[in-house]
Amino acid sequence: MNDILDADAIYKMLGEKISIEVFDTIDSTNTYLKNNIRKDIYKPGLVLADRQSMGRGRLGRNFESPQGTGIYMSILIPYDKLTDKILLITSMTAVALVSAIRELTDKKPLIKWVNDIYLNNKKICGILAESVTDSKGRLCVVVGIGINFMSPKEGFSKEVEQIAGALYEGEADISRNELAAGIVNEFLGLYKDIEKGTFMEKYRKWSLVIGKDVRFLRGDIWREGKARDIQNDGSLVVECEDGLHELNTGEITLRMK
Ligand code: BTN
Repeated sequence: MNDILDADAIYKMLGEKISIEVFDTIDSTNTYLKNNIRKDIYKPGLVLADRQSMGRGRLGRNFESPQGTGIYMSILIPYDKLTDKILLITSMTAVALVSAIRELTDKKPLIKWVNDIYLNNKKICGILAESVTDSKGRLCVVVGIGINFMSPKEGFSKEVEQIAGALYEGEADISRNELAAGIVNEFLGLYKDIEKGTFMEKYRKWSLVIGKDVRFLRGDIWREGKARDIQNDGSLVVECEDGLHELNTGEITLRMK
């Protein structure tokens, strides 16, 4: 299959038209959009790259972004489209990713709270939402999505090979352009109604974590319990021996047991 990332091909498949830029190689699609915003540049609304030389993950981690086998993209939410519910953007994006993959392929990925997508117990996608202000102090948000579409030719590095997987281990039956467009369509559709928060039902339904024994690091203490629920504000409820704990994004490292 011809699988070259192509801005025109993606644009044609979008329901709501936003401007697109595709790079062969870039340091990071998130960094690019953030630098644009700092200079008050609001286009493109969507940027993709075939390879990232400095792909970034959450908590300052590196996101491996080899050439030709992934989808590395960022969507800009400009200041005039921001809402009070923006704190749910990572959960909403996870639902958009899983919806698009389920719609376009026969795969059934699940969401590991809070921002990872898993297939067959391997992480295949990650999400990095970042805020940035323009020169007038107006807040915008950049939502970065990294997908291991196929396994990298050289395999994953030693650091991530235990947890990383790919959507397709062999031949893919859709193109990266189709999946990227499908994800952006889901994303924009859900974002219109983010205030209603209805996507949280799917977030719970597709959770890899609810009902599982988990460990979490709070401060420097590991605690153990059973994940019971994910609330509409995105917090994870874990039942420990001493009662229920509500875990909020950002402060927690979660491990499934
Ligand atoms: C994570 O798993 O911790 C989040 C990974 C997010 C990676 C994507 S790839 C596109 C965008 N640009 C980046 O530098 N990071 C995000």
